[in-house]
Amino acid sequence: MAAMACTRLGFEARPLLAMALGLRGLGGLRGLRVGDAGGGGVRWRWKAVGGSCRSAGVGVRARGLRGGVSGRECGELILGIETSCDDTGAAVVTTDGRILGEALSSQADLLVQWGGVVPNLAQDAHAKAIDKVVADALANAGVQEEDLSAVAVTIGPGLSMCLRVGVSKARDIARVHRLPMVGVHHMEAHALVARLTEKGVEFPFVVLLVSGGHNLLLLAQDVGQYTQLGTTVDDAIGEAYDKTARLLGLDLKRGGGPALEQLALEGNPKAFNFSVPMRQRQNCNFSYAGLKNQVRLAIAAKNINAEVPLSETDTEERRLRADMAASFQRVAVLHLEDRCRRALEWARKIDPSVACLVVSGGVASNQVVRSRLNYITQEVGLRLVCPPPRLCTDNGVMVAWAGVEHYNRGMTQPPPPIDEPLDAWLDLRPRWQLGEILEEGVADAHKRSLKKTGTHPSLTAQVRSYAEGNC
Ligand code: KG4
Ligand code: ZN
Repeated sequence: MAAMACTRLGFEARPLLAMALGLRGLGGLRGLRVGDAGGGGVRWRWKAVGGSCRSAGVGVRARGLRGGVSGRECGELILGIETSCDDTGAAVVTTDGRILGEALSSQADLLVQWGGVVPNLAQDAHAKAIDKVVADALANAGVQEEDLSAVAVTIGPGLSMCLRVGVSKARDIARVHRLPMVGVHHMEAHALVARLTEKGVEFPFVVLLVSGGHNLLLLAQDVGQYTQLGTTVDDAIGEAYDKTARLLGLDLKRGGGPALEQLALEGNPKAFNFSVPMRQRQNCNFSYAGLKNQVRLAIAAKNINAEVPLSETDTEERRLRADMAASFQRVAVLHLEDRCRRALEWARKIDPSVACLVVSGGVASNQVVRSRLNYITQEVGLRLVCPPPRLCTDNGVMVAWAGVEHYNRGMTQPPPPIDEPLDAWLDLRPRWQLGEILEEGVADAHKRSLKKTGTHPSLTAQVRSYAEGNC
């Protein structure tokens, strides 16, 4: 089993050996390409480098950089590509953490039209957008494909039809330019982007990932090493926001969450007394299906008609909808607070050096979520770190940065074979767990979530397996 996992992961042995030997504190490992090894493969030698790029001597790839390397000489360039759900994103980030260029194409119109993501339509939209998005990201960065040092791409979790579009594009670029690749875990990218945007977010830290499809609490111990403290037993909070926004007849063009947050500003958060989920369960798991149902019943009882857009309601009806939105949001966020408080306790028992709570994913752009979680972290003397809203939702920057974090540790895969056929098997991981599950959290939710995780071992299990030399 371990061997199978390792083969799938496809990391090269030498850099991982270096990582296992504890070289990660040396300021990163840089790969220097030394030539094709035949059969489409590329040999890499690896060298630990620290300090500035000037002293490092290796690792600076000036190849083909238009206008010289002056502004970028301390960083190699990693292209990141994201197509796991409904956003086509790409970005170029340097290995020393500068965002050189990015581009994003969202499928908001399709979402509004169909009320959710329809996989084949989403795939078509990615396929139409991908070339331009990547070209725009490169152009915005002022670089060309041949200037890149590696290509990172989300390989899961997500919709396999959508993942395929990004992975094919990434492989194509990596194949042509003989670049190493990083297969990125979408949720790890959400978690790690905080280390790009804020200084001093050191491991270990606790992460709350809140998006349309995920509600995860993790202890992040290192790149590729996570302990899952909690997850949702049913719906994610973003899904509950979206559904409630729809039932309240809100304009969904900018997304249900932002529309509901805005309306809630006008309402009374205590107007409706919804109950906070799972208070009797002393763990870090989440449940939003019950709250969604409470809100649905309350909306029906008040005869709110979602077919009548908010813009066409009178003052009284608008007030009613705003009260509903504010009351939903209050309880939805209270549930987050309960679980985060406990997660911080659990995490600090595992590792007392935890100093930060990182909150990311689409819902992390919500100001009420931010201010309440700021309050609970301050209560226990920790720091709350939220990436800027545009980097909380799906984007190419977070994938490029996750690529950097792996690349700097030598955790890359070789370029695809030069003669890779168009219909080659692709390593896509639609259901892929990020962390190893903490015993206390297993009791109820995780049995179900485990069943859903499909065949791939978690990223953490794979990375540990390598580090322990099982391959
Ligand atoms: O991370 P993301 O862009 O995509 C997924 O991986 O799901 O998250 C999208 C989710 C949607 O459910 C959206 O309504 C929610 O994040 N969201 C918000 C806010 N902005 C986005 N929810 C509440 N308040 C917001 N301001
Ligand atoms: Zn996401």
